[in-house]
Amino acid sequence: MSQLRARIDLDAIAHNTRAVKARLSEGTRLMAVVKADGYNHGAAEVAAVMAENGADAFGVATAAEGSRLRESGVDKPILAWLWSPDDPGDEVTEALASGVELGVPSLVHLRALVAMEIPARICLKLETGMHRSGIDEAAWYEAFSLARDTPFLTVTGIFSHLARADEPDDPANDLQAANFARAIEIGRSLGLELPVNHLCNSPATLSRPDLHHDQVRVGLALYGMNPLPGEYDLRPAMTWAADVVSVKPLAPGDGVSYGHTFTADRQGYTAVLPVGYADGLPRAMQDKLQVTIAGRRYQQIGRVCMDQIVVDLGDNPHAVMPGAEAVLFGPGAMSVDEFADALGTINYEVACLPKGRTRRQYR
Ligand SMILES: Cc1ncc(COP(=O)(O)O)c(C=O)c1O
Repeated sequence: MSQLRARIDLDAIAHNTRAVKARLSEGTRLMAVVKADGYNHGAAEVAAVMAENGADAFGVATAAEGSRLRESGVDKPILAWLWSPDDPGDEVTEALASGVELGVPSLVHLRALVAMEIPARICLKLETGMHRSGIDEAAWYEAFSLARDTPFLTVTGIFSHLARADEPDDPANDLQAANFARAIEIGRSLGLELPVNHLCNSPATLSRPDLHHDQVRVGLALYGMNPLPGEYDLRPAMTWAADVVSVKPLAPGDGVSYGHTFTADRQGYTAVLPVGYADGLPRAMQDKLQVTIAGRRYQQIGRVCMDQIVVDLGDNPHAVMPGAEAVLFGPGAMSVDEFADALGTINYEVACLPKGRTRRQYR
């Protein structure tokens, strides 16, 4: 067993998938977003469980992620929305050959596909107000017409992404929603069927059932993290844990770790954990991290090193020994949200932290 692990609770993934599915408007399909290796939970493993528990389709970022997911055995629709039109190359060809659908976020992308002259299922990504990627409104007519008139392209629908879905009452959401609805009308008036259109991510799926359309694209919530304040019956799926490698005494005046930023003011004990910034634990978490050992929290002290951190055991009243498991975040320990607040970031980023020598373990 690895000394440093991300334990993934597949029962939690199953539960969350069913819980989100149960909230969808009648007839709305669930696209499970498993980009970035399933938000760092392992795309192949979580996708298999999501597929069994209600996911109707999968969303990834890159074409290569799409091909890998297909190779892992997923036989439901897969949409990949991040690829380069300059040189679509092997990654795009392979993805299309394995039946991965491509998101088309600009007219340049669409023209590149037309030039490739190979059959492709596409979903047009439209700019509705996020101003990151998407076909600008001025090009909607041209894009719809070109897609319609290219016989080897099959348009499954349109999609767009909300910039402020985590602020459900912000008028920007309604503005984007209105633009999206208008785009569907225009596309259909030009003769496209547009059977599967989607706008909502996790926060919008949970807070705006009126915007569900034919499909929602949900990532964060399926991994058990809350996209919004509130209770949504989600179970966190990831636990990041390390085994104590040594316990040693500390005398008053002893300085700990680089720069001696911590100096002991009394007799005590410390534990060393085999995790550092090379494994994704930010150096900026110094003094903000509390690890949980056998249900009790202990303060991390001194600088976070490349491979190690030191934890203050006090008098070590609970006899922590080498080999004990210390949880950095997860159920029963610092939550992902607590960790994110301490670091000044969001839960999405915290889930993506564990790397380096972290090994995944499935339960
Ligand atoms: C285009 C797109 N759709 C859907 C999602 C899923 O978002 P969430 O994790 O909030 O559900 C993402 C993730 O950022 C995305 O980039």
